[in-house]
Amino acid sequence: MMSEFKNKKIFITGASKGIGFALAKYLDGCGASLLLHASSDEGIKRLKEEFLSDEHKFWQADFFNPESFESKLSSILDDFGPLDGFVNCVGVRMRRPINLLNVGVIQQTMTANFVSYMELVKIITKRNRFNSGLSIISISSISAHAGGAAVSVYAASKGAIESANRCLAKELYKKNIRVNSIICGQVGTEAYNDLMASKENTTDPVLERQYMGLGIPKDVVNIITFMLSNQSKFINGQSIPADGGYLT
Ligand SMILES: NC(=O)c1ccc[n+]([C@@H]2O[C@H](COP(=O)([O-])OP(=O)(O)OC[C@H]3O[C@@H](n4cnc5c(N)ncnc54)[C@H](OP(=O)(O)O)[C@@H]3O)[C@@H](O)[C@H]2O)c1
Repeated sequence: MMSEFKNKKIFITGASKGIGFALAKYLDGCGASLLLHASSDEGIKRLKEEFLSDEHKFWQADFFNPESFESKLSSILDDFGPLDGFVNCVGVRMRRPINLLNVGVIQQTMTANFVSYMELVKIITKRNRFNSGLSIISISSISAHAGGAAVSVYAASKGAIESANRCLAKELYKKNIRVNSIICGQVGTEAYNDLMASKENTTDPVLERQYMGLGIPKDVVNIITFMLSNQSKFINGQSIPADGGYLT
């Protein structure tokens, strides 16, 4: 499968950490050309230091503000060339019980996790911006299926992506574009470790149900790369679990 990605053009959002970063490292090793996104100065710096090939391009954007995506991204996409893959790894975590939610927080979370993704799909599926066979993948969460206290808005934002992807798959297959979601279980990324470090109780109750234990980023990367590849060409509009056997 590795050789399949040589010279393929793949756009990864949220590439500076965790699953997105591990995916970028793997695809870089396969000889793919990457358009890599991060939101922070630190994130972009890490990407530029790590991915040195002239074939790679970078895009810095805050997903709380998708209004300016088209104007900022169009020249980068023109320069980069038509895409073969798009993987959305951005997911802003939001953990608040209902009594602590407010309209601003709800709207911001939906904007960062869902509205921005939809805007990006619109932008990259315009004429001349993709090659036939484009595979679009967005990372969802087990919380959208199993639920979880205090994560209603985060889970809903991921559920929105999965629902939209089922529709987009039906809409875009005529252009030979596939659209799928990955249902991600608990994975030991920096964000996960920070979250656990901030808790008084360091045992994660989710792992009682994810009986195969905490995943590593490569566990998810293996599934993403299969879904990017032509080997999954008969799968469309689906939500693929990468969840260590999580029992709902
Ligand atoms: N890890 C898990 O256990 C787990 C479980 C279920 C689902 N997921 C999903 O898997 C995906 C990847 O998670 P992860 O833990 O690997 O990585 P992560 O730590 O959640 O961060 C990934 C990326 O998001 C970017 N980001 C943060 N805030 C942003 C904003 N406001 N606008 C745009 N980008 C922003 C970060 O860029 P900067 O470096 O610039 O901050 C980083 O590149 C997410 O969608 C997450 O919801 C993860």
